[in-house]
Amino acid sequence: MNDRISQLLKRTPGAAVVTAEGWVRTKRESKNVCFLEINDGSCLKGLQAVVDLADFTDGPLLARITTGAALTCTGTLVASPGENQEVELRVESITLHGEAPADSYPLQKKRHTLEYLREIAHLRARTNTMGAVARVRHAVSYAVHSYFNEKGFYYVHTPIISTSDAEGAGEQFQVTTFDLDAIPRTPEGTIDYAADFFGKKAALTVSGQLQGETYALALKNIYTFGPTFRAENSNTKRHLSEFWMIEPEMSFCTLEGNMTVAEEFLKSVFSYVLDHCADDMAFFSQWVEKGVADTLRTVVDTPFAHMTYTDAVAELVKSNDTFDFPVHWGSDLQTEHERFLTEQVCKGPVIVTDYPKEIKAFYMKLNDDGKTVRAMDVLVPRLGEIIGGSERESRLDVLTTRMTDLGLDPSDYWWYLDLRRFGSVPHAGFGLGFDRAIQYITGMQNIRDVIPFPRAAKQAEF
Ligand code: 4AD
Ligand code: MG
Repeated sequence: MNDRISQLLKRTPGAAVVTAEGWVRTKRESKNVCFLEINDGSCLKGLQAVVDLADFTDGPLLARITTGAALTCTGTLVASPGENQEVELRVESITLHGEAPADSYPLQKKRHTLEYLREIAHLRARTNTMGAVARVRHAVSYAVHSYFNEKGFYYVHTPIISTSDAEGAGEQFQVTTFDLDAIPRTPEGTIDYAADFFGKKAALTVSGQLQGETYALALKNIYTFGPTFRAENSNTKRHLSEFWMIEPEMSFCTLEGNMTVAEEFLKSVFSYVLDHCADDMAFFSQWVEKGVADTLRTVVDTPFAHMTYTDAVAELVKSNDTFDFPVHWGSDLQTEHERFLTEQVCKGPVIVTDYPKEIKAFYMKLNDDGKTVRAMDVLVPRLGEIIGGSERESRLDVLTTRMTDLGLDPSDYWWYLDLRRFGSVPHAGFGLGFDRAIQYITGMQNIRDVIPFPRAAKQAEF
C-alpha cells in the first residue's frame, strides 16, 4: 500500500518518486501551473500537487479533473514555497480514476450547512468536518477498548435481539417475522407470539446491561460496546433511535467505586483524543465550538463535582422561574435542569446521585430511606446527561418487589433474578452514550452529525 497523505506530509523533500492517492478538494489554475489539493481522509490537510503546464501536455485529462475526482499522482516531494505546507508534490503523471462532474457533484468548494450535508450523508465524509468527526470517533473507540483492556475488563458481546426490556421503559422496536396483514391470533383473540420467529415477543435491545451483569457475576469486570435502539419519539439534538453505548459492569463494587471508574474512564478517553487527534481538535476548537480542546483539557485536570439529587433540586428550585419546567423534589430532571447544574452551579462535569426511585429503573439499589436509589448520572456542559448508572439491587426480595411495583412481571426476568439467587454480590455499572461522548468532545451541536447514518423518528435514509 502506498503512503497515506498524512505520512507524505511528514516526509522530508527528496528525489524519490512517491505516489499520492486521493480525491481532489480544490483545483486552481494559472497560466503556467495547475494546483490540485488532494485529500485522502487521513488528516485534515491535503497534499498540494503542482502540475507544470509546460511539461504536462495532456490538457484534455486535466480539464476532466474537478473537485471530487479520484486521482493517483506520482512525482517527487519538494519543499513548498507556499506558507501552508512544508512539502508539495511536483507531479509527473496522473491517473484519473473517477470523475466528479462539476455540474452535478453535490459537494462544491463552498461551505455547506450541516443540514444540507445530512441530506447527502453518503458523501459528507468527504468534508473537513465529517472527516474530522470520523477520525475522532475511531480514536475514541480505540481509547475505550484500550482503557478497559489495561484495567482487566473483558469485552462481552451482548445480544442485539432481546426478549427482555432492560430499562423496563417500553421504548423498544419490535422484531417479528409476522406478516402484518395476517397476524396469528390465539383462540382468545390476542396476538399469538408463540407462532412468531422466536416463539415469544422480541425486540431490539435498549441496553446490554442485564446480559452484561451475568458475565460480571462470573468474570468480575466486564464491558459491552455495541449498538442500542430506542423508540423514544424525542426529536432533540441529543437523541437517536440507534446509538452506541459502552456499559462496564463491576462485581464487588458499590456506587463509590462506580463513580471513580466513570470519572477515570472519561478522563482517560478525553486525554487520548487530545494527545492523538490534536489537528482535528484544533479544527473543532476554531470552527465548531470555540476552545473546545482547552475545555476538555481543563476537564481532564479537574475533579468532577458531586451532588445528591436532593441537593441538586434545592439549587434548581432557587431558579425555578427561569425554567420551562419548574422543578420540585420528585421531578425527573430535564435537559435545561441538567445543563443549569453543570454549567451554572458546578461549572464543569458533575455526578448527581441518589435519585427518587420513581424516576429510575427497577434494577437500581434501594437506599435505606426507602425513597431514593443508588443511581448516578454524569452531567456535562452543553449536553446534560452523558452517563447513567447505578449500584444494582443485589437483594432478591427487594428487587422482586421493585419490579412488581413498577408493573414488570418478575417471571419475564427469571434468569436475571437467578443472579441474586446464586452467588449474589454488590455490583455496579454505568452506560456511556458513545455518540453523546463524541458530541461533547468535538463540540458538534447535533448528535445526527457525529454518527455516519443517523436514525431518528422519520429518518432512516441511506
Ligand atoms: O441512562 P441510560 O438509559 O442507562 C442505561 O441504559 C443503563 N442500562 C446503563 C447502565 O447502567 N449500564 O442510558 C445511558 C446513556 C445516557 O446517559 C446517554 O448518554 C445515552 O446512553 N443515551 C442516548 N444517546 C443517544 N440517543 C438516545 N436516545 C439515548 N438514550 C440514552
Ligand atoms: Mg439515563
